Amino acid sequence: MRNPLLPRGLPEINYGIRQIVGKGFERMNLGYPVIWENIGDPVQKGMALPGWMKEIISNQIQDNSTFGYCDSKGLPETREFLASKTNSLNGVQINSEDITFFNGLGDAIARLYSLLSKEARVLMPSPTYPAHTGAEKLRICDQPVTYPLHPENNWQPDPDEIREIVRMNPAISAILIINPDNPTGMIHSEKSLKAIVNIAREFDLFIIADEIYENLVYNGEMVRLAEVIGDVPALAMKGISKEIPWPGSRCGWIEYYNRDNDSVFNDLCIRLDQCKMTEVCSTTLPQKVIPEIMTNQAYEQFLAKRRDDLFSKMSLLKKRVQQLDDVECSGCQGAFYATLHFKNGLNKNDLDPEALPEVEKSLYLKWTKGLDSNPDLHLAYYLLAGTGICTVPISGFNSRVSGLRITLLEQDIERFDYMLDQLFCGLSTVFNRKRSLILA
Ligand SMILES: Cc1ncc(COP(=O)(O)O)c(C=O)c1O
Repeated sequence: MRNPLLPRGLPEINYGIRQIVGKGFERMNLGYPVIWENIGDPVQKGMALPGWMKEIISNQIQDNSTFGYCDSKGLPETREFLASKTNSLNGVQINSEDITFFNGLGDAIARLYSLLSKEARVLMPSPTYPAHTGAEKLRICDQPVTYPLHPENNWQPDPDEIREIVRMNPAISAILIINPDNPTGMIHSEKSLKAIVNIAREFDLFIIADEIYENLVYNGEMVRLAEVIGDVPALAMKGISKEIPWPGSRCGWIEYYNRDNDSVFNDLCIRLDQCKMTEVCSTTLPQKVIPEIMTNQAYEQFLAKRRDDLFSKMSLLKKRVQQLDDVECSGCQGAFYATLHFKNGLNKNDLDPEALPEVEKSLYLKWTKGLDSNPDLHLAYYLLAGTGICTVPISGFNSRVSGLRITLLEQDIERFDYMLDQLFCGLSTVFNRKRSLILA
């Protein structure tokens, strides 16, 4: 090439959730089964859209306009519907002009971060859902600035720590929260949300709240950013990939809060809309059906059943965790994920390839040959090779703490139980050895 094509210093962009898939297929090609616990796709894990939802969708496609472009910002009536849902929380008040649709929240995330100035930094949690980290890295060509989530405190952040990081880094222009959180399933307490809002107000920042899992809280209780944001500028990100669940619809939206309170922030909202105009619009069909699905009397029941189901699986998992001293699972209050972390840490040499049968051992050795990475990736490979369970190491979520993410998505409870059997059998081999090494 005549010129360099990539910006200098661009770090690797990793998406651990999908990167492990190739290894899983390698195992399958040898005739060994794989239990896919890596991706948050309810449909892939056996969830079917109820008949009444399919009927709404199939009725809508009889209308020719479904196949056309829609307004750049999205269908006005759907934006109006969503704005009134947010307004009914009795917090910040918005109108349909404060909402813009994207082709999935992944698209919205990529667009938002790409628009910010090279100097601006978004302070993000560690661990973080990798679309946010990846988009930030792409723009700043560096590692993102992060604030830790604390596993010993249910993965809650410490607002004092956030404040100190913000104070020390004048480039920080926004704080990201993911609520409910991916990968930990943590729900932000109202107190910590309010404290983060106060920090944003004090330092003249805006908040980005990824709330794509807002209706998948196991006990149904969470405070949304709209309820506590007051007068601080913010972007709330939502979508239907997880909730309806229709990830293939590629449909998500951003809600702009308090854009009139700050002209710099308002310019960002205007630019987001201008960019959307250059792409024409986002997919029309899912936008068309949102109001009808969400106001159907069966919708609340449908969500309540899903929450109950997730709660039962979370309880089953927590019982298993109690049986294994070294493994802990905090957070896990929503968003259909659970993160397992390890009380006494994890080292690569806790993993004994000799404990694996021949074929599994050779896979593990092949995958880890020359691999210089966090021990949790080694553990994920060890479990995948040995048990066929495909988890995601949370180092893939930019985490300093080692751990593994699994999902609570399996629809067949016997299969879910079997997955836990295999997983905890694999983990107990590892941690029994770790203990014997410590005692030796
Ligand atoms: C926290 C979070 N935000 C955004 C997304 C992306 O969602 P979408 O399917 O709308 O692109 C995901 C998907 O897993 C997610 O977990």
